[in-house]
Amino acid sequence: MITLPPPALKGKISVEEAISQRHSDREYLSFPLNLNQISQLLWAAQGITEKRSNRRASPSAGATYPLEIYVVSGNVEGLEPGVYKYHPSTHSLALHLTGDKRAALSRAALNQRWVSEAPVDLSISAVYSRTTFRYGKRGIRYVDMEAGHTAENISLQCISLGLGSVVVGAFDDEKVKEVLSLPEEEDPLYILPVGKVSTAS
Ligand SMILES: Cc1cc2nc3c(=O)[nH]c(=O)nc-3n(C[C@H](O)[C@H](O)[C@H](O)COP(=O)(O)O)c2cc1C
Repeated sequence: MITLPPPALKGKISVEEAISQRHSDREYLSFPLNLNQISQLLWAAQGITEKRSNRRASPSAGATYPLEIYVVSGNVEGLEPGVYKYHPSTHSLALHLTGDKRAALSRAALNQRWVSEAPVDLSISAVYSRTTFRYGKRGIRYVDMEAGHTAENISLQCISLGLGSVVVGAFDDEKVKEVLSLPEEEDPLYILPVGKVSTAS
């Protein structure tokens, strides 16, 4: 278990500035990311923001919390290349797979170059049954909506940290499942490559 550094609760730019600067970045510099940045991105995605109620950074239909976040690490200081699962309750990472999986993930994502070139990819997957158990068929819609909330939080947090990202939805579900060794009941919804970007662009 890797305990992440606590997230910062104040940033350098306003939410309005982050929204106005948000855009897709697909070209990353070869600098590594660090654990503070990973911690901040995961907190923005699914972190616990209110301990007493276990409320999270992204809303969830009926607080059913169907989403799981994986860090596909290739070039992160303090994190060996591998796949790690985020545990919001302890704000920690658990090793899920060893080895650099970015190239295989890129192949599963129709060879999108940015998936293999980014120092790290964040994967959002979902256990639909957690939500459909309560809401039936409508739960499917709710889960997809939640992935959007979470991806947008990550995108805006990237801007605030001076990082670039893009939301990737075009991939072969079964291949991504295989590369990331996702449990049978978990379906991949988004991949977000994240990296430092040239400020000139
Ligand atoms: C549901 C969804 C799926 C997307 N899938 C991909 C993708 O597979 N690859 C990619 O490079 N961009 C993907 N994008 C990013 C869009 O191409 C991008 O948001 C759009 O061109 C607008 O540019 P902007 O984000 O810079 O405003 C996706 C965006 C959304 C909302």
